[in-house]
Amino acid sequence: MRGSRSLENRKEASENLLRVSIEKLVYGGYGLARSGDRVLFVRYAAPKELVDVEVIEEKKDYSEATVRRVVIPSPSRRDPFCPYYGECGGCQIQHMDYTHQVEVKEAMLLETLSRIGKVRDPKVLDPIPSGQELGYRIKVQIKVRNGKVGFFRWNTREVVDVEMCPLAHPRINDLLPHLRDMAPHIPELQEIHVMYSPSEDEFLVKFLTPTEVEKDLLSKLREDHLPKEVVGVGNYSRLRLILNRRYWIGRDHTYVRVGRWTFRVSADSFFQVNHTLWERFIGAITEGVEFRRALDLHCGVGFFTLPLSERGNFIEGSDVNGSAVDDAEYNARINGRDNVIFVKSDAYRFLKARGGDLIDLVLLDPPRGGLEEGEIKVLTMNKPERIIYISCNPSTLARDIRYLTKRGYTLEGVRLVDMFPQTYHIESISYLRVQE
Ligand SMILES: C[S@@+](CC[C@H](N)C(=O)[O-])C[C@H]1O[C@@H](n2cnc3c(N)ncnc32)[C@H](O)[C@@H]1O
Repeated sequence: MRGSRSLENRKEASENLLRVSIEKLVYGGYGLARSGDRVLFVRYAAPKELVDVEVIEEKKDYSEATVRRVVIPSPSRRDPFCPYYGECGGCQIQHMDYTHQVEVKEAMLLETLSRIGKVRDPKVLDPIPSGQELGYRIKVQIKVRNGKVGFFRWNTREVVDVEMCPLAHPRINDLLPHLRDMAPHIPELQEIHVMYSPSEDEFLVKFLTPTEVEKDLLSKLREDHLPKEVVGVGNYSRLRLILNRRYWIGRDHTYVRVGRWTFRVSADSFFQVNHTLWERFIGAITEGVEFRRALDLHCGVGFFTLPLSERGNFIEGSDVNGSAVDDAEYNARINGRDNVIFVKSDAYRFLKARGGDLIDLVLLDPPRGGLEEGEIKVLTMNKPERIIYISCNPSTLARDIRYLTKRGYTLEGVRLVDMFPQTYHIESISYLRVQE
């Protein structure tokens, strides 16, 4: 692979290289190849190229390998722009030009919909590419281990020390040296989560530690190390994916303007990561939509609910996260929307309570696991005329679409939203309608 020092070094050390051709890219950012009857998943490969690879792990049904030398490059291959590429595990497909990244992700999405969802040749709507390849992230999760501050190596918990991340908003990179200076002073620091508002030029920063950091200490470190644009800092513990706030110092929310909408976003609420496509994403959900009554079952701070409220009579948003629902209620007020209400509830209970009601449209935007069994059952019992399903995981999307198409829905169109350039992550919108 070009442009990666560590891989070049290891290439020389290794003699057991296999020469394989890459059929295509698969989910996770791996190139699919075969050697005899063995399937190989190859890191840092591009479709239709001939590469020499080193096997790095043998599994029962396949081997994992990494490219050591490119023999015949794919037309999509380019030099990666980040000095940490190949070491830091944050990016997987930076060695491919952006147009091909979008094409490859769309192909993976369609292949998954066909294989798992049994949907053949759905109408493919124009993808929404990122407005920028770099500097698009307004949120980052920095890892801290053994004096290193950065991101995990591919599939490990080993931290690669980084001075900057080209995917992060440039203002987050301005903040990074301050955070790096501060990190050694916080006992047992494991992670730093940063959220940035481009419209306000403000940061919210969370420090994750297994035991509590003295409040006076964090307060003093904030004063000594962080610029005034960091409007608040908090100390959190983490249990798997769940963060628990111990305390917060300063303001615990910021505001984010997206076109003519203003959203209050609290430190514990979700907000879409890629600021360069926010407006087009909202447009892709609201365009051409009309309803009498709609539900937004994973509403967050009302990112889609409020713009959608202009397209119909009445919309209800719900979310399990109370912080997001508080923000959403506040956001309805500051944006002057009075035909929307928000309820703190999981999707299942919220839908169940509306059993038998006439609902025209349901918007879904679940986490990676997709819809839970109970949720999808009550959803199909309610039989809304239209479902718009935003997904960040093609496999669970395809599983859920199979369920929905078996129960009378047609997939009218699907669209890639490239929320995460340089990475394998695939965000998409599926438009479904019930057959009469
Ligand atoms: C990908 S975010 C989308 C939020 C919002 N649609 C937006 O664009 O900002 C997923 C949301 O689903 C919520 N959530 C997770 N599990 C849920 C469940 N079982 N029922 C309802 N909401 C859930 C999370 O709190 C989070 O706000």
